Amino acid sequence: MDLYEYQARDLFEAHGVPVLRGITATTPDEARTAAAELGTPVVVVKAQVKTGGRGKAGGVKIAKSPDEAASRAEEILGLDIKGHVVKKLMIAEGADIAEEYYFSVLLDRANRRYLAMCSKEGGMEIEQLAVERPDALARVAVDPLVGIDEAKATEIVAAAGFDGETGAKIVPVLIKLYDVYVGEDATLVEVNPLVKTGAGEIVALDGKVTLDENAEFRHPDHEALADNATTDPLEVKAKEKGLNYVKLDGEVGIIGNGAGLVMSTLDVVAYAGEPYGVKPANFLDIGGGANATVMANGLDVILGDDQVRAVFVNVFGGITACDEVANGIKGALEILGEEATKPLVVRLDGNNVEQGRAILNELNHPLVTQVDTMDGAAAKAAELAAR
Ligand SMILES: Nc1ncnc2c1ncn2[C@@H]1O[C@H](COP(=O)(O)OP(=O)(O)O)[C@@H](O)[C@H]1O
Ligand SMILES: [Mg+2]
Repeated sequence: MDLYEYQARDLFEAHGVPVLRGITATTPDEARTAAAELGTPVVVVKAQVKTGGRGKAGGVKIAKSPDEAASRAEEILGLDIKGHVVKKLMIAEGADIAEEYYFSVLLDRANRRYLAMCSKEGGMEIEQLAVERPDALARVAVDPLVGIDEAKATEIVAAAGFDGETGAKIVPVLIKLYDVYVGEDATLVEVNPLVKTGAGEIVALDGKVTLDENAEFRHPDHEALADNATTDPLEVKAKEKGLNYVKLDGEVGIIGNGAGLVMSTLDVVAYAGEPYGVKPANFLDIGGGANATVMANGLDVILGDDQVRAVFVNVFGGITACDEVANGIKGALEILGEEATKPLVVRLDGNNVEQGRAILNELNHPLVTQVDTMDGAAAKAAELAAR
């Protein structure tokens, strides 16, 4: 889960990372009040959208009075930044920036490490810098068992080429940012810019944090950070029901057991659908234990997608055998009743396949078609979706 800047700011503050005060606002009036409350001669009105490059897109503006903050808010609210419409702002204290640096720490899956990146030349051109002068962006591997302690932080600032005095000021900030990274189970903590102020202090002016959703159970407080307003409503519903669902742009709903099988089902359906111009509508892995409730929940979410014209249920019976899945489908159709309106193509294979197929044959439901092979079932589902 990606966080908004103001949420990252709050986490930074909780872990002792130096940040400036900031107040969120959703209207020009609130922006005026926030600026007055901050009371600094300069405030910065910042678009809160989950994408970078806000500054370049006109989403970060300086204001020298509360009235001016309201005017800037008026300009920024509703702005479309790379497809994200601005609905929320953060009014932040204005910093007296002497220098802008860059720091990030992220999960480096390929190397089974964390990777810290740091540069003396932070700010809005960092992507360009990384491409044109990669040497100016230090990359330092971090051993997860050791983390960013004083020695590692010192190594990082040295690799970035900081002088001793500035480096010594940055070191404790990096240690605290690492504390955010590990303590909150993040996969990314990025600060751009990390600034040195005129008074020589190091402050995190912008923050980007991605939290690892697999660690949610350790952080009950993270739930409050989820922004359901910008998440697809079907995804929200699926999550409430504990389903692994990702909405895609297509017409063939997909249900399968096991992420690998579902991924290959998406491929097969994409291929089979090509001649008809139809595509997979979603990813949905119901995992093991595909009982009637899980199947009904899955079907309910998929049938709630108006774009879906047909559903492909692709199950390979393993620990959960095909007869259980077939009973699950039967039960789900009973639970859904009239709400089940779209054709289902079911392909069962694996453990207890004969019993599973017999259950569905006996059911003889008008919406259900059984096909024995994955390719055949994908073709059938694509054809039905195209009708
Ligand atoms: N509180 C602030 N005070 C002064 N300048 C700021 C402040 N916040 C951001 N800026 C300036 O605006 C630029 C862009 O803001 P930033 O928060 O980094 O947004 P983005 O990375 O999305 O463009 C920063 O590089 C910095 O120069
Ligand atoms: Mg930035």
